[in-house]
Amino acid sequence: MSTDESQVRAAVAAVTDPELRRPLGELGMVGAVKVKRKRVAVDLALPVAHYPQVDELVARVRLAAGLLDGVDEVAVELTVMGEEDRARLRMLLRGEPVDGETPGAGDDGHDHAGHDHAAPLGHEEGRPNRFMLPRSKTRVIGVSSGKGGVGKSSVTVNLAVALARMGYDVGILDADVYGFSVPKMLGVTEDPLIIGDLVVPATANGVRCLSMGFFVPDDTPVIWRGPMLHKALEQFLVDAYWGEPDFLLVDMPPGTGDVTLSLGQYLTKTEVFVVTTPQPAAQRVAQRSAYAARKLKLSVRGVIENMSWFTGDDGTRYELFGSGGGEQLAGELGVPLLAQVPLVPAVREGGDVGIPVAVADPDGEATAVFAALAASIAEMGPTRVYRKELTVR
Ligand SMILES: Nc1ncnc2c1ncn2[C@@H]1O[C@H](COP(=O)(O)OP(=O)(O)OP(=O)(O)O)[C@@H](O)[C@H]1O
Ligand SMILES: [Mg+2]
Repeated sequence: MSTDESQVRAAVAAVTDPELRRPLGELGMVGAVKVKRKRVAVDLALPVAHYPQVDELVARVRLAAGLLDGVDEVAVELTVMGEEDRARLRMLLRGEPVDGETPGAGDDGHDHAGHDHAAPLGHEEGRPNRFMLPRSKTRVIGVSSGKGGVGKSSVTVNLAVALARMGYDVGILDADVYGFSVPKMLGVTEDPLIIGDLVVPATANGVRCLSMGFFVPDDTPVIWRGPMLHKALEQFLVDAYWGEPDFLLVDMPPGTGDVTLSLGQYLTKTEVFVVTTPQPAAQRVAQRSAYAARKLKLSVRGVIENMSWFTGDDGTRYELFGSGGGEQLAGELGVPLLAQVPLVPAVREGGDVGIPVAVADPDGEATAVFAALAASIAEMGPTRVYRKELTVR
């Protein structure tokens, strides 16, 4: 029996693009399809010439077409989309109506369209911040600390990797104006994909990420980064294509500055987790960041103690930075102490070279702690946010 072109086209159209995580047919990436006896030739139209994860994409297409009865050989030819198709793709990714469709309104049985463009959730050009839509399933996890260097970025990255390994779709927004260390720690090697004015976060270790670090040279003075960051944050939320992740982790800048304020404004449903170190003096500083979050009406959900101890070769635990800080802070804030992360050289080394400890040392002490932390956060579920405008009466 020989396969006809429509069968091949249908099989290829159903393949999920690893980068945009949607079917190729929907993305308009399937070009000409030819069948000649047992040989199939498929043209794929890439959104841009330097498209990430092309090898994986081609492998998926070969597999899908090759599985059809009567197909022995699959040749994939790569082309680049024309301007018109690219514009259509951008609209599709933004959730704007394409070809007369009206995505968004009422797709969960309720018509929230009235809220989609309500200030201050909207963008100046009227595009909504999708994370703020009532139907958004994404939990926004803000990782904060009172001061720098306590391991906030390490916790963000390793927690994200642990959640991704549980099967969740996870993104990281690196909002740390002073640091932007996330891309390096996560092991991102490619720049984010840019389709016209649409940014697609880069992916590494199963986690997507956007950072000012992609757009600003490292030596740009902090004084310039500040105002740029405010604008960039908004663009990262509104103009970037995140799909619909289960979790968006935000590496917040240390302290209580204006970026926290912006986040409070853009992402009012952020659940804040405070990272602290074990010495009792540290928790007073951490406490300030928690109070600042609460002032912005963000809910503080838990405390994560980092650098809790170092386990020697003989199994003895050395509490290099004292003990009790995490527990004390959690007590004062009335939230659970969710994890105590040990000091492990592989965490630092992994951060330096971009190989998260879960990959470098899957059976290690820190990996187990991050996995348990991810499981508790997943299990505790989102906070119910009370929003007056959403009440029925
Ligand atoms: N549990 C840990 N074990 C070993 N090293 C760690 C651990 N946590 C963090 N580190 C190391 O400590 C240093 C500071 O951590 P990190 O950059 O994550 O902190 P931060 O709070 O994000 O700092 P900054 O304020 O500079 O953004 C890094 O070199 C990191 O690799
Ligand atoms: Mg950091």
